[in-house]
Amino acid sequence: MTTGPKAAIADLLREARERTLELIDPLDDEQLNRVYSPILSPLAWDLGHIANFEELWLVQTIGDREPLRGELGRLYDAIENPRRTRGELPILRDAELRSYMTDVRERTLEVLETVDVSPEAEDPLLREGFVYEMLLAHEHQHNETMLQLLQLVVGYPLPRRYEERLATVPPPDLGMVLVDGGSYEIGAPPRGFAYDNERPRHPVELAPFEIDRSPVPNSSYLQYMEETGAEPPMYWGRDGEGGWLDTARGRREPIDPEAPAIHLTWHQADGFARWAGKRLPSEHEWEAARPQLDGVGHSWEWTGSDFLAYPGFEAFPYREYSEAFFGDDYKVLRGSSWATHPRVVRPSFRNWDLPARSQIFAGLRCARDA
Ligand SMILES: [Fe+2]
Repeated sequence: MTTGPKAAIADLLREARERTLELIDPLDDEQLNRVYSPILSPLAWDLGHIANFEELWLVQTIGDREPLRGELGRLYDAIENPRRTRGELPILRDAELRSYMTDVRERTLEVLETVDVSPEAEDPLLREGFVYEMLLAHEHQHNETMLQLLQLVVGYPLPRRYEERLATVPPPDLGMVLVDGGSYEIGAPPRGFAYDNERPRHPVELAPFEIDRSPVPNSSYLQYMEETGAEPPMYWGRDGEGGWLDTARGRREPIDPEAPAIHLTWHQADGFARWAGKRLPSEHEWEAARPQLDGVGHSWEWTGSDFLAYPGFEAFPYREYSEAFFGDDYKVLRGSSWATHPRVVRPSFRNWDLPARSQIFAGLRCARDA
């Protein structure tokens, strides 16, 4: 019988898996295997990848055990298999997929019994349960990418926990808040779980700036579209009477004018900010202002920053998590969305994506020099 931190880890692993299975519960195998979009994996790939990544780290790496099926590693490597190819791979499907997920989990819990996850543990992967936090975050984050794909599934009934979060967005405050200039500590503190790209924490000098109190609402984005002819957000469709409808998941629902605008590309976000006579905040400004801001938690927010390493960056525990993406191809998003598990939300968290992408639940808030 496991007690203490290990029992807590086992509970968290169970909760993560319950959420994953809840997402796919309304779907049949055909829907799990279908390729809905070249930029999103079929759900069956995500499920096999979640289990295979768990096996790699929580069974093979820290448990020193052989994989159940050695050939699977290649199929579920996210870097080797771009999203557009994942539907063609000989991945696990249907009953075989479900039993692989169960079998891996059983072995994960066996290994958990044998390892030292105390703060004194010698292996930095195990110290304070780092590798378990990493795997939990991984499953939670894949739930969000699965929810991105689920917007393409006509008639998909969103689980109630997400409906509830979508229903509790406060009305927007169209004012701005002044943030003093000065030196701000940016990044995650040395202890506690964070990804390598959030470290090391370091001081950044900021000039005074103003930043929107709330994310840009649909009503403002609509005004921008009407005045400039800008493209609508993804999943907005014409209502036939000159207005717009939300068509995600095959619905035809009125656009809520007060809700934050989401499914914007970086280019749309940047265009809106310029039209408003403002600009996107840098990611450092966003993090410095974070404790004073409202409305965080409905949508990711595009920033003006490229995804770059912090000074003194060290890859941990593997190069492909962050380092492979550093450069000016990707823009940083901050905050979290209605689809983000609360356990992965923290002020230092850096999300990133290509500036042309709109499948993310992302909008913006504007800033300007003070
Ligand atoms: Fe992954």
